[in-house]
Amino acid sequence: MHMILQIFLLLCATARVPSSIPKSSSPYRLLEPPLDTPWTAKVGTSPWPQYPRPQLRRDAWQNLNGIWTYQSASGPNDVKDLPDLPLAQEVLIPSCIEGAISGLQTWGVTHMWFGLTFTVPQDWDSDHRVLLNFEAVDYEATVFINGVQVGSNRGGYFRFSLDVSAHIKRDGPNKLQVFVFDPTDDESIPQGKQTKRLSHIFYTPCTGIWQTVWLESVPKNYITKLDVSGDMEGKMDITVQTLDKRPTNVVVEIQDEHGEIVSHHQLTSDTLSRVQVPSPKLWSPDSPTLYNITVTMENDTVKSYTGFRTISSGWVNGIKRPLLNGKFVFQFGPLDQGYWPDGIHLAPTWDAMVYDIDLIKDLGMNMVRKHIKIEPDLFYEACDRRGLLVIQDMVSMRVHTGARPTDAEQTEWERQLDIMINEHKNYPSIVTWVIYNEGWGQRTDYYPEFKITDRIRELDPTRLIDAVTGWEDHGAGDFLDNHHYADPQCGTPYYSRLSSPYDPQRIGFQGEFGGLGHKPDDRHLWPVEAAVRTINETYEMHADTESYNWRAHVLLDLLRQQIDRYACSGAVYTQTTDVEGEVNGLVTYDRRMIRVDTAQWKMDVKALYDAAAARAI
Ligand SMILES: *[C@@H]1O[C@H](CO)[C@@H](O)[C@H](O)[C@H]1NC(C)=O
Ligand SMILES: *[C@@H]1O[C@H](CO)[C@@H](O)[C@H](O)[C@H]1NC(C)=O
Ligand SMILES: *[C@@H]1O[C@H](CO)[C@@H](O)[C@H](O)[C@H]1NC(C)=O
Repeated sequence: MHMILQIFLLLCATARVPSSIPKSSSPYRLLEPPLDTPWTAKVGTSPWPQYPRPQLRRDAWQNLNGIWTYQSASGPNDVKDLPDLPLAQEVLIPSCIEGAISGLQTWGVTHMWFGLTFTVPQDWDSDHRVLLNFEAVDYEATVFINGVQVGSNRGGYFRFSLDVSAHIKRDGPNKLQVFVFDPTDDESIPQGKQTKRLSHIFYTPCTGIWQTVWLESVPKNYITKLDVSGDMEGKMDITVQTLDKRPTNVVVEIQDEHGEIVSHHQLTSDTLSRVQVPSPKLWSPDSPTLYNITVTMENDTVKSYTGFRTISSGWVNGIKRPLLNGKFVFQFGPLDQGYWPDGIHLAPTWDAMVYDIDLIKDLGMNMVRKHIKIEPDLFYEACDRRGLLVIQDMVSMRVHTGARPTDAEQTEWERQLDIMINEHKNYPSIVTWVIYNEGWGQRTDYYPEFKITDRIRELDPTRLIDAVTGWEDHGAGDFLDNHHYADPQCGTPYYSRLSSPYDPQRIGFQGEFGGLGHKPDDRHLWPVEAAVRTINETYEMHADTESYNWRAHVLLDLLRQQIDRYACSGAVYTQTTDVEGEVNGLVTYDRRMIRVDTAQWKMDVKALYDAAAARAI
């Protein structure tokens, strides 16, 4: 080898001993998103300070949200090579790295590290366990504490909890390193609308630690999960799951909305109990009454809540209807993607998140269809408290390749579907589970939705199941759910391509319609060329909002006539907000321009409920 080259290589080798050189990270800065929202500048550096798990609350917790460090990794093998902290760049957690709020606004990274140095609160009982909780990491996370791998998780929308007691120092700094892998588009994973191949209806992906990370102090044996559901008769089913899974005495106290204890029970953990609450005030969108619950088991006390309400289906004047507390309640609301121009999958703040919910409620709608995305738990809590029914879709697998999922991918998807149900089945606001949307990621060589429907009924017998919303219906589930743009075909004997005629044995439903578009002026438009290019793929474009609102009135009135005349039991209007190149929201993507004529929409929406009420007399 040439001498000079040899020296050069030697120098390179020496220069690659970086651990002795103290590193500093490039500092965090809120970047400028392509389009901002009224909340972008309010995020600060302590984002999402709210207690993240509203249905299992403990006093002793510490939020780890804030400034962490980040660096990309070159591939899967990097997980074996723990990098020193701090990492190369500061990042705000929680965030999607593609969003401006992260401080990175970066694309196409599939493997990466996140790091944080933290201390454990000194006043925590040293006999207690310390749990490290992640509310959601998209897509796979491998977690190290002080250099030791303490766990891993797969699935971009779900919480996981690691007992790190044996690996943390109580009296000094702890190093947390998280290796993340996100194969969006490369494999068939639950990814919903995320794609790296942007198109009109598929958007920016979300990668990384996109929900709250926190520490919690729990006794040796502790309550790991509560399953609670209350019905219209005041019966409450409760299972208090504990780590030890051995029958232990638990005390359950139920409080009414004024904080009065209405019932008190001595039960046994890890077994299903049914208790009776005397004549509870029922939960409904008009009267979203909730009851707080306190559960004590040995030295562990947790707080939760429930609502008393029953969801079922039944015959009303000869038509199969969805029932809430025994009555036909017409369900009307928007398709809701839960996308943000600054945070992508995560609303910039809690206020921003509830802005969307309040917009829907203020128009007099009683429902939202959460579209192939799963939100942070605080979203469902807000729907419980504000009274908004939720139709919850399972997150679909990728669509762009046209290839159907393999058996292994299907199995993993079904595993995550179980997790969605188990994690969310306590929320009174959720009324329906949706398995498949428009054939996306749906195997049709056999009809897995039949088996999955049975499986969901086993996991959660208290809700309805929309096995297939749009297109590939084979008769499974509680609904015949049509998609048609722009005009609805709800419970009608007529239908169009990819659809089926109304099936009188099931509930007639319009899972999507509308989608009227209007290009807002540039201040409210997502100015990304790949998105702007697709605007004219919208089902119907309107040159001004007057025309948009007139057509909306026509479509809502047509829906009203279908309620009058046929078997229409609910409908979903596309959609809450503009998203990237889709300019069909009630409000623009930045939530700064309300497109709908509020007074007119309120009247049109009320007319739907009035028409439905007349069918139930
Ligand atoms: C119920 O619990 C929530 C959360 O802990 C609390 O904010 C609320 O004040 C409680 N309600 C009553 C009536 O005590
Ligand atoms: C509860 O806490 C007390 C005081 O720390 C302790 O003596 C007792 O052993 C604990 N009980 C259980 C069942 O862990
Ligand atoms: C949609 O817009 C793009 C760019 O503005 C244009 O190239 C394309 O021809 C348009 N397509 C239709 C169907 O109008």
